[in-house]
Amino acid sequence: MIKVAVIGTGGMAKNHALKLSQKDKSKVVACCDISAERVAEFAKTYNIPETYTDLSEMLEKCDFDAISIVTPDAFHAPIALQALAAGKHVLSEKPLATSVEDAEKMVAAAKKAGVINMVNFSYRDSSAIQRAAKMVQGGELGRIFHVEAHYLQSWLTAKDWGDWATSPGWLWRCSTEHGSNGVLGDVGVHILDFATFPVGDAASLQARLHTFDKAPGNQIGEYKLDANDSALMIVEFASGAMGTVTTTRMATGHMNSLALSIHGEKGALRIDLDKSYHMIETSRIGADGKTEPWESHYCPPTPNIYERFIESIASGVQDQPDFARGLAVQKMLDAATESNQSKQPVQL
Ligand SMILES: NC(=O)c1ccc[n+]([C@@H]2O[C@H](COP(=O)([O-])OP(=O)(O)OC[C@H]3O[C@@H](n4cnc5c(N)ncnc54)[C@H](O)[C@@H]3O)[C@@H](O)[C@H]2O)c1
Repeated sequence: MIKVAVIGTGGMAKNHALKLSQKDKSKVVACCDISAERVAEFAKTYNIPETYTDLSEMLEKCDFDAISIVTPDAFHAPIALQALAAGKHVLSEKPLATSVEDAEKMVAAAKKAGVINMVNFSYRDSSAIQRAAKMVQGGELGRIFHVEAHYLQSWLTAKDWGDWATSPGWLWRCSTEHGSNGVLGDVGVHILDFATFPVGDAASLQARLHTFDKAPGNQIGEYKLDANDSALMIVEFASGAMGTVTTTRMATGHMNSLALSIHGEKGALRIDLDKSYHMIETSRIGADGKTEPWESHYCPPTPNIYERFIESIASGVQDQPDFARGLAVQKMLDAATESNQSKQPVQL
């Protein structure tokens, strides 16, 4: 039985508590949060025996094998480095870190510790993206020319997920001082992984980031609202393909929409997670050189990240996406920030 500790017991931690306890394979034995109230409530809700408000104390007193980090972004690196030094396997929430420098330290520390390390690019749980990667990498679409990807949210324009202006869980995401890299670091990270997982690494990236005026003086309480709300990126892939990747929190009409289309010399594919995580559409160039109608294909479910993490620990075989992959995506995030400042494409 693999014993897991969860650190950070806010909104996303629910998924970790539920999915990291896997029948006779793994169990969440402890949780930790700087808020004593939240950690106690969380432990009660998910029946977790031990609670802590300090990581060092948890490392000293609790018997566990692996940690899952579900704190705000700025704390992923320091917590992971401390846990890795203690020899724990680590599943980190995305983005892996808030800078390439920190992500590199995490990759090096994980290698030194010789433990399983993964980053929660959770949309890899879609069997459709797994199929897309196999199709593109297996050459089914031929040479890839064009890629379009978007991740659209609207929690800054609509209240379906609550009132962002009165919720610390949303406010820290609007503030660089609170460790957020805006929509780019929050969900841009997902769509950059989603686009480059099948097609391969980016060779260069050009970006325009924008922060909209949202409150008087763009400040609410302790939160300076300076993090980006929209990110528009042009990506040149190492393979020579060209693509656009866009993301925003202002896409009224879309609560949480991810879509990707990939166009090659022999055919094209598209995925729309609003329709299904397990369906891919394809169109091919027929023998007559003409476009065949789009067809839908069901893709049987593939293991989710939590299952991959536990299975990796059990087998000792590192699965993807690992910290090195988190670092590769972090490089794209930092390149986007640099490009926005210089107004030039950045080579990766
Ligand atoms: N993979 C996904 O699809 C996905 C979805 C949502 C959130 N996330 C990620 O999960 C992380 C947490 O997001 P959330 O929405 O749960 O945030 P949240 O604000 O709801 O919860 C964060 C929790 O961490 C605690 N915390 C802060 N600093 C801490 C520290 N140093 N040690 C221990 N606990 C600390 C806070 O008290 C809070 O309870 C973020 O990195 C976010 O990017 C990922």
